[in-house]
Amino acid sequence: MKNIVVLVSGNGSNLQAIIDACETSIDKGKVVAVFSNKATAYALERASKAGAAAISLDPKDFDTRDAFDHELMKQMDEYQPHLVILAGYMRILSGEFVRHYLGRMINIHPSLLPKYPGLNTYQRAIHAGDEEHGTSVHFVTEQLDGGPVILQAKVPIFEEDTVDTLTERVQAQEHRIYPLVAKWFVEDRLEMKAGKAFLDGKQLGIHGHAED
Ligand code: GAR
Repeated sequence: MKNIVVLVSGNGSNLQAIIDACETSIDKGKVVAVFSNKATAYALERASKAGAAAISLDPKDFDTRDAFDHELMKQMDEYQPHLVILAGYMRILSGEFVRHYLGRMINIHPSLLPKYPGLNTYQRAIHAGDEEHGTSVHFVTEQLDGGPVILQAKVPIFEEDTVDTLTERVQAQEHRIYPLVAKWFVEDRLEMKAGKAFLDGKQLGIHGHAED
C-alpha cells in the first residue's frame, strides 16, 4: 500500500473525493495523514473521520516560511509519503519544500492552465467573457501553478453564471479528475522527467491528457 499525504487549508471536498476513491477505485493507495495550515479547516474533520492523522501547524509559530516548511516536511516524512497531494492548500511553498517532493507532489488549480495562474480565477474568466473555464491537475515545481499539466477538465461558462455557480460546476469536475490522477500515480503510470509529465511512458502536451 502506498502512503498518500494531503495538504489542505479549507473545506476539503477534494480530500473527501480522494478518501472516498481510496475505498473504491484506488486500491494501491491510502490517505495516511492530512496537514493543514489552518486549525479550523473542515478538511481536518474529514481526515479524522476517515481514520487518517489530522495535523495542523500554525505559520504564526514560525519566524520564516522556510522554518515552517522545514517543520512541515519533517512531520510529513514520518508518514513516508509516496505521493503528496495539495488539495486547496493556499500557501506558497518554499523552494526547499518543492525540491524535496519534486516528482511526487501534485496540485489542483481551478483554471485551464497555463491560463490564469494565481488567485481569483473564476472572477477573471467571467470578467474576460470566456466561454469556458475548468481545472488542471499538475506536478508541482518551483514556478507557481507552472508545473507540467497532467489532466484538465473543461466546463462551459453560461451568461447567467456567477462565481458561485461556476465554482460548483468546476469543483464537480475536480472531484472526478483528482482521484483519477492519484490512482494513475500510485499505480506507477505517471511520472515527471526533465520537467515534463508522462503517462504510460507517453509525454503529455501543454494541456495534459485533456478531457471534456
Ligand atoms: C479547489 O477548488 C482547488 O481547485 C482550489 O481550492 C479549492 C479547494 O476546495 N485550489 C486553489 O485555488 C489552489 N491555487 P476544497 O478544499 O473543497 O477541496
